Amino acid sequence: MDRIVVRGNGPLNGKISISGAKNACLTLMPATLLSEEPLTLTNAPRLSDIRTMTTLLRSLGAEVQTMQDGKVIAMSSHQADNHVADYDIVRKMRASNLVLGPLLARHGHAVVSLPGGCAIGARPMDIHISALEAMGAEIELKDGYLHAKTSGGLKGADITLRFASVGATENTVMAATLAKGTTVLRNAAREPEIVDLVECLRKMGAEIEGEGTDTITIQGVDRLHGATHPVVADRIETGTYMLAPAIAGGEVELIGGRIDLLGAFCEKLDACGIDVTETPTGLIVRRRNGRVNAVNVVTEIFPGFPTDLQAQMMAVMCTAEGVSVLEERIFENRFMHAPELIRMGAHIDVHGGTATVTGVDKLKGAQVMATDLRASVSLILAALGAEGETVVNRVYHLDRGYERVEDKLSAVGAHIERVSEDE
Ligand code: EPZ
Repeated sequence: MDRIVVRGNGPLNGKISISGAKNACLTLMPATLLSEEPLTLTNAPRLSDIRTMTTLLRSLGAEVQTMQDGKVIAMSSHQADNHVADYDIVRKMRASNLVLGPLLARHGHAVVSLPGGCAIGARPMDIHISALEAMGAEIELKDGYLHAKTSGGLKGADITLRFASVGATENTVMAATLAKGTTVLRNAAREPEIVDLVECLRKMGAEIEGEGTDTITIQGVDRLHGATHPVVADRIETGTYMLAPAIAGGEVELIGGRIDLLGAFCEKLDACGIDVTETPTGLIVRRRNGRVNAVNVVTEIFPGFPTDLQAQMMAVMCTAEGVSVLEERIFENRFMHAPELIRMGAHIDVHGGTATVTGVDKLKGAQVMATDLRASVSLILAALGAEGETVVNRVYHLDRGYERVEDKLSAVGAHIERVSEDE
């Protein structure tokens, strides 16, 4: 198992290219199941989660080819006749549940393994299920699998989600594209990845309005055709690298980074003394003064502060001037990085969904353990500003969502390398 070794090395300077968004690509790929014609994605990120989705789609009978060093994914599911998403694949990646809606719409039935437990929370699928049931699906849980079927196909419905779940919005929108009649989806999630999905579905011939708002209207059509679509930039990768100069100093330009996708995050950066400037090719980030100010953060659905940047923000607050309170409102167990940051000398007090961080002058390098995707990158960020050497173990978590993190950070002057267990 690989580890990543980081030695704090002072200010960072240079450019980092932002990849396509993992969380957009993971919902765009299952859309291939909605048409018999080819769907090609460009600007795709090269991540282990994308490879898992590729394995899943191939197991359903789809052809999936990656080209141009993995940046182009060409898919065709004209022969996709299997409607069972197997536990052995689904347990590796929860987003596998995004095939449920498309399979049901395409075949009229689907058998999808429930993903099981997750480090950051229980993450049930009740909202997905009740939305699809409102469209006429019959769904029962048997042997750990959701067995879903329709008699005569899905039907348009007026649906209000009990919570603006990203995944439930994506599954329902995809299913509704081929349903009979109109679906009105209220309290829908507004994340940019959903906007990207809808833009792609529209290119495939879907009739959809309201993406990016809390009410999405889908007029079902008989069939969808093929399309080519560029994956939107990864706002969470962008936000993560914006915090590198906040911790280590210096100035970094994020090529392809987009401020408009980052909602409340940029306002928080401004409040803690981090300057963000848009450029023709992306955005430049630097600290305004020597030290970052402590700020309070509450994670929310888009356009609020993203939960996927909470761990990284905690790493910055560890050496900020003052006391900050971070409240995690989306997931019930998303402070696993705190005990690891404490091993590096941070002062953090966690009570339920609230963490109080008292800034210290400097963190110290240590052996730490990655527990989930965003927790792992927060440890790398913390190490960039720490004294001495930090060794981050179990970086397979990181590879799920960050493309070549050590290459991108060493390009701006970080001392970072990947070492495999037997080295
Ligand atoms: C997506 O997960 C992202 N994953 C997550 O990113 C992200 O943290 C999350 O949205 C919130 O922004 C992908 O897009 C692949 P939700 P998703 O359904 O769709 C509860 C990362 O780091 N809920 O909006 O699973 C749920 O338990 C990952 O890249 C139900 O109770 O998120 C959670 O507390 C982590 N019942 C909350 O809603 C349901 O049926 C938000 O979940 C569905 C969700």
